[in-house]
Amino acid sequence: MYFLIPILILIILTFTGAFFAAVWLPTKKEDFDRITKLAGLRPGMLFYDLGSGDGELLFYLSKKYNVNCVGIEISPLLFLYSKIKSLFYKNVKIYYGDFYKYDLSKADIVYIFLLPKSYARLRKKLETELRKDVKIILSSWPFEDCEPNQIDKKEKAFTYYSYITKENGYL
Ligand SMILES: C[S@@+](CC[C@H](N)C(=O)[O-])C[C@H]1O[C@@H](n2cnc3c(N)ncnc32)[C@H](O)[C@@H]1O
Repeated sequence: MYFLIPILILIILTFTGAFFAAVWLPTKKEDFDRITKLAGLRPGMLFYDLGSGDGELLFYLSKKYNVNCVGIEISPLLFLYSKIKSLFYKNVKIYYGDFYKYDLSKADIVYIFLLPKSYARLRKKLETELRKDVKIILSSWPFEDCEPNQIDKKEKAFTYYSYITKENGYL
């Protein structure tokens, strides 16, 4: 029975996000270029992933498009894995903890794959901190009461919604 304890600890350390804005479910690799297209990525842009998981999206974007990437992750194991990997990528920075505690004011693009239960608080943060003309890309669930400027829909796949901030980060 005691052998179950380390397994339980590993599960908790990996899926810590379940107690916060979402459990870990990685964005599919085949969707990376759909996100890129919506984001209109250009070299040198600053791309944030709030709840970056294993960071694979960031590693891909930094390598293929030469964008600067920031990931913030609350699961200790996912953080550790992506932090160590980021040491081999000069354009990727991974931070540990709750993304609500980080300043997002320098972001050009913010990517969000979280449960909609987190949207009300998150929107307040985005609208307080983001500049004008920042792209926000949501996976799977749109913001309520707010028209996306673009939608990427595909059969039997996730839908992606893109928003552009107006004056003072408002949507
Ligand atoms: C659905 S997964 C998406 C992972 C990654 N963004 C991707 O697309 O592959 C959500 C991630 O957010 C993390 N998370 C949830 N709440 C968080 C919070 N408040 N601060 C930082 N990370 C959080 C979870 O641990 C999980 O790794």
